[in-house]
Amino acid sequence: MRGLLDNPTIGNDDIRRIGADKPDTHTPKNCVRILMRPGLVVVSRVVVQHCQGNQTLDKPKIRVLISPYRANQASPKYMNKASPRERERESLTRVKLCFPAEVYISISGLMTAMTLNSVNFGAAKAVNFEYVGLKVHQNITGARPHSVKFVPRALTVNAGEAQGGGPVKKLGKSDEECEAAVVAGIVPEAPPVPPKPAAPAGTPLATPLPLSRRPRRNRRSPVLRAAFQETSISPANLVYPLFIHEGEEDTPIGAMPGCYRLGWRHGLVEEVAKARDVGVNSIVLFPKVPDALTTSTGDEAYNDNGLVPRTIRLLKDKYPDLIIYTDVALDPYSSDGHDGIVREDGVILNDETVHQLCKQAVSQARAGADVVSPSDMMDGRVGAIRAALDAEGFQHVSIMSYTAKYASSFYGPFREALDSNPRFGDKKTYQMNPANYREALIETHEDEAEGADILLVKPGLPYLDIIRLLRDNSSLPVAAYQVSGEYSMIKAGGALKMIDEERVMMESLMCLRRAGADIILTYFALQAARCMCGEKR
Ligand code: PBG
Repeated sequence: MRGLLDNPTIGNDDIRRIGADKPDTHTPKNCVRILMRPGLVVVSRVVVQHCQGNQTLDKPKIRVLISPYRANQASPKYMNKASPRERERESLTRVKLCFPAEVYISISGLMTAMTLNSVNFGAAKAVNFEYVGLKVHQNITGARPHSVKFVPRALTVNAGEAQGGGPVKKLGKSDEECEAAVVAGIVPEAPPVPPKPAAPAGTPLATPLPLSRRPRRNRRSPVLRAAFQETSISPANLVYPLFIHEGEEDTPIGAMPGCYRLGWRHGLVEEVAKARDVGVNSIVLFPKVPDALTTSTGDEAYNDNGLVPRTIRLLKDKYPDLIIYTDVALDPYSSDGHDGIVREDGVILNDETVHQLCKQAVSQARAGADVVSPSDMMDGRVGAIRAALDAEGFQHVSIMSYTAKYASSFYGPFREALDSNPRFGDKKTYQMNPANYREALIETHEDEAEGADILLVKPGLPYLDIIRLLRDNSSLPVAAYQVSGEYSMIKAGGALKMIDEERVMMESLMCLRRAGADIILTYFALQAARCMCGEKR
């Protein structure tokens, strides 16, 4: 992770303060609250160092995570009074600052370009901030770091002061005198250039190759590598697929370690809260519908009081700004386990299925879905769903079309998760042949013409060429679905200690972005976002 983040960028106003202009009885005088702007996907780690006089203690006393979404939920507890669990929560919004102090915002694990400016701490008037950090400084001597009586209002900070060094120091000589000395040949001393490091004994003597280009030059330091990093990823790029069921309990999914069928009322809501804590504010719902409600025509799919619409209403009530994607396909509702209606000879009926999908999409939109996502691969469904949504007044609801969804064996764990294996046959008459490339363009052109808002490629990593194909042939946002099999392989490899799970996870997501994906649907969303925020599991 660190390597991906050698050189975070800080600038503009992504952090603003709520302390002074919004007096809050819960905030003690020496407690600083920093509010991340809503929608900002950045979570950073703040290290507070206490100073004693001029001496800065080496060991940071407080490390704080700032979360964009926790910020509004003020808690009356002081960090040092809270239990460790509470402290962890608390630390998401609040920095207890004992002045004098230096506050460094070190952007660990953050891979997107982050910017901050106009940062204020508590009632501190202004803050002098530098390239990688903020420094509240003043001339207090002998102040007790833990003094609760200290009133930060007394702080004054000159924003125009030199970077990194604190107040300009008067050392005696004027600029003119310094220049005159140099002109007169009295040159001040500076450290010598370090000697060339030695190669190991036995290293052959080689004449330097006459290369005009040495690409390694741009990779030789963390700062340079970060400066030239072409792709970034942030929690905002992630969509978290969540499995729900009618039960009260969360049931682990054997084939997908770390994933559960979540109880729609409790487990789901908690999982969404955790995701929002680290900047993942988009989810996609996959229901496990009671078998008794499945039929050959999948009519439960458009029951306004069915599991999905009910869940959407609950989530929207709790989190109005949460973006909810829904899956549009009949398989969870079909007694045949297919995405469409099956004729007696096994043929999947196209237009009849589309008729059902339109009702399903409208029902989801009525409940408050933001993006409906047809994953069924029937022909013409995007246009039909667009018309159906518009006819019902849902012009604002987006369609993310599974444009290139392949008949892939990587869906195995998902089908176990939802018990949705087709009862017979396979999905090859509607999902695409994994051997095909050009065919993805045909689907792209259709979906664009029919009014899709987002084009999705699925699976992800084995289909990077398809993601790039869509990226280069459409101006629409491209989504990639890192499917269950991809997830489980990384999990299994990690559990067996064959690979470093976290690094492989982050690399796979970065590669999907590099291939051209704007957003990524991934079961790793929460884990990856935590990782980007510098939080460890
Ligand atoms: C079906 C659907 C599937 C997935 C999402 N929606 C599986 C299938 O086509 O059988 C797979 C997701 C995954 O494997 O993670 N509408």
